[in-house]
Amino acid sequence: MEQTTKLGANKTGIDTSPEDSKKMIEGANGSVGDLRGTNDGADLKSFSKFYLENAEPLGSVPMPATFKGMAKSTLKMVTGHHPQVFVNKLGERLAYERAGVRMYEQLIIKCRHAAEKGLTEIEVPLEKLEEFRNEEQEHFEMLKHCLEKLGCDPTAQTPDADASAVASSGIMKVIVDPRTSVSQSLQAILALELTDNAAWDLLVKLAKDMGMGDMAKKFEHALAQEDDHVKHVRQWYEKSIRMQD
Ligand SMILES: [Fe+2]
Repeated sequence: MEQTTKLGANKTGIDTSPEDSKKMIEGANGSVGDLRGTNDGADLKSFSKFYLENAEPLGSVPMPATFKGMAKSTLKMVTGHHPQVFVNKLGERLAYERAGVRMYEQLIIKCRHAAEKGLTEIEVPLEKLEEFRNEEQEHFEMLKHCLEKLGCDPTAQTPDADASAVASSGIMKVIVDPRTSVSQSLQAILALELTDNAAWDLLVKLAKDMGMGDMAKKFEHALAQEDDHVKHVRQWYEKSIRMQD
């Protein structure tokens, strides 16, 4: 039985203490009114509006050396598309695949421990997890070469790499938390793989749009491997839930 699904003295619901709940509700009603603020959300709206209007973007995309010196209009004529969009997304995938390696590393540690201690019904094949980790690493290396080929610095963090790292940071937190179970970690990695899968699909399209057939082929190969990751992780996750009694 998964440790995290056992019945116990859960005290998070308000029914646990009607007396305290009553006070809490009174306090909430007396201070801020409701979630939208004290005057139909007007304060909150103007507060958010101020920040939205004054925010700087999440950095910028470095111009590849191969495109340096070319006017933007010429570039668009040559490629049919803005190369910075492609570079932004390549940088994002590179960062994501690198993070994927680390997440699989942690998942392997968790699954091995759970299997040794008998903490889970499902035995996730460790050799398969190692295979997936290795493939994430291969994808990272391949993207590094693609960026270098375009004259880009693969160590530069692009804006979309930044945003997607923030989005996936919760996934890592779930997996490294020693209290989470195998099934909870599998659910987290499923979210990672589903996003990854859609992103590779888009990257294939972008490479084709850019007229970069060789890269598109490499990305299609990565996408096929990612399809396999999603398929397996999803099966393990579903099994880990349905096997619990
Ligand atoms: Fe993957």
